Amino acid sequence: MGEGKDGRGANLKDCSRAASTTKTWRISCTVLLFLLVFLLSAVFISWMDKSTSGLLILKTTITGSREDSSRNFTYPLNCSATASVPQTCPGNYPTKHRTENSYAEACPEYFRWIHEDLRPWKGAGITREILESSKEHAHFRLVILDGKAYVDKYRNSFQTRDVFTIWGILQLLRMYPGKVPDLELMFNCADYPVILKRDYEGSKAATVPPLFHYCGLNTTMDIIFPDWSFWGWPEVNIRPWEGTLGAIEEKAGKTRWKDKVPFAYWKGNPVVAQTRLDLMKCNGTPEIDWKARLYTRDWRQATAEGFKDSNLEDQCTHRYKIYVEGSAWSVSEKYILACDAVTLMITPEYYDHFTRGMVPMEHYWPIRPDKKCRDIKFAVEWGNNHTEEAQRIGESGSRFISESLKMKYVYDFMFHLLNEYAKLLKFDVEVPPGAVELCSELMACPAGGLIRKFMTESVVESPSDTLPCSLPPPYEALELRAFMERKESVTRQVEKWESEFWQNLEKKPQK
Ligand SMILES: *[C@@H]1O[C@H](CO)[C@@H](O)[C@H](O)[C@H]1NC(C)=O
Ligand SMILES: *[C@@H]1O[C@H](CO)[C@@H](O)[C@H](O)[C@H]1NC(C)=O
Ligand SMILES: *[C@@H]1O[C@H](CO)[C@@H](O)[C@H](O)[C@H]1NC(C)=O
Ligand SMILES: *[C@@H]1O[C@H](CO)[C@@H](O)[C@H](O)[C@H]1NC(C)=O
Repeated sequence: MGEGKDGRGANLKDCSRAASTTKTWRISCTVLLFLLVFLLSAVFISWMDKSTSGLLILKTTITGSREDSSRNFTYPLNCSATASVPQTCPGNYPTKHRTENSYAEACPEYFRWIHEDLRPWKGAGITREILESSKEHAHFRLVILDGKAYVDKYRNSFQTRDVFTIWGILQLLRMYPGKVPDLELMFNCADYPVILKRDYEGSKAATVPPLFHYCGLNTTMDIIFPDWSFWGWPEVNIRPWEGTLGAIEEKAGKTRWKDKVPFAYWKGNPVVAQTRLDLMKCNGTPEIDWKARLYTRDWRQATAEGFKDSNLEDQCTHRYKIYVEGSAWSVSEKYILACDAVTLMITPEYYDHFTRGMVPMEHYWPIRPDKKCRDIKFAVEWGNNHTEEAQRIGESGSRFISESLKMKYVYDFMFHLLNEYAKLLKFDVEVPPGAVELCSELMACPAGGLIRKFMTESVVESPSDTLPCSLPPPYEALELRAFMERKESVTRQVEKWESEFWQNLEKKPQK
């Protein structure tokens, strides 16, 4: 903490980590300041005199080619336990890894929501008291201190959500050794966001409990963090995201869009939400074909069979795929969008860490929740009449997922969120008495079955040789409003086409 309180602080921080000493940091980051100091400061000049290679340091730092002893360093899981010696955290994790580039590429636009999510604490920061006030909602407290992770568990999560969430954070630490700042945070692993805006208005605005969670609503203030499914969801046999995305891309690429089934596909468990039960009514009747092909997944049977027949990559057979929320956000969204099909998005109420960056008609086709069947039929018929335009929406949605949601950016999102969050903390980070140190070995080595398999598949075996992408600045208020209005106006336009289509159709005599 401490280096720079504004949005550009992160760049300074990256830069300081890239150089090997405070002196070279000053030089590489602020060459102008350096020159000024060089000219004016006798102290500095005397340092320059002593350090004969001062100018050399300046040159090599700017070109980015520093001596680097830790190149190609790997640290695969080291399961060292024996019958008599329990598993421990290996002592040879690097505490630092030099990165090659000193100027990072820009992160995807949706990273700007990090600033929005942290806005409630931008003014007064987060005191110990405010942090502790979110404990009542938390499944665990995570502490990062000197690059090590400690967890204090408060209650059980559903299935292995907490396990794979913590696993993901441990992988972030392996990816960027020495770069993740000290912090304490509270994490809620349930479905629904819990910190309501209406409870923290007026004089209470300075007391919002900071709570990390997977999704939010426009009426809530939970801090949005990537969900566990990026590292795997063993209970439903969903592999870690990197492998799943690769498999979907490969399968989806085998059939040209035009050769896919010209209907809208959805398969899932409808009983978890009313909007899904409603969707099932679009399966069509003898009188009308809504152009949707909807399938119920029998979860009890699928679980019994180990989800063998529900490979996500085998569900990319249709030109259109429907996304509908379950209880809160659904992790299915990224798998659906990745398919190369046009995603017919039943306008969600909940957002997760990346969806706020998506734009209707660019990445997906918007469907009104209260007019699902009519909107789906129109979208499918329109797309089948305008195949090139439709294909383009499908491709651009998939590109968004494969480029902006690749695993490197999932880690970079976590990195920047934690980095910005840590800047707000107004207290000394401590490991509470109940907390235990966790490392990948302590989690993966004793595990069996799919948990072990997915952890082995998603372990970060070597630190990143490149810096995290560079965080874009916060939205200006006007800019954010313009972005929201653009989405709104595109959606209104589609609705207008839809009502014109139905009016024309209904004017014609039926049969
Ligand atoms: C690191 O690995 C790359 C390719 O895997 C290889 O070309 C390079 O020589 C290695 N560098 C060192 C220092 O071992
Ligand atoms: C694995 O861990 C053990 C115990 O901490 C350590 O002695 C050993 O050197 C480690 N092996 C490797 C390859 O890092
Ligand atoms: C929040 O979302 C609901 C629908 O989910 C919408 O009706 C409402 O206008 C939104 N409110 C704001 C402030 O954006
Ligand atoms: C698609 O084309 C058919 C035949 O030209 C037309 O009757 C129908 O209205 C069109 N539908 C849409 C949604 O464009």
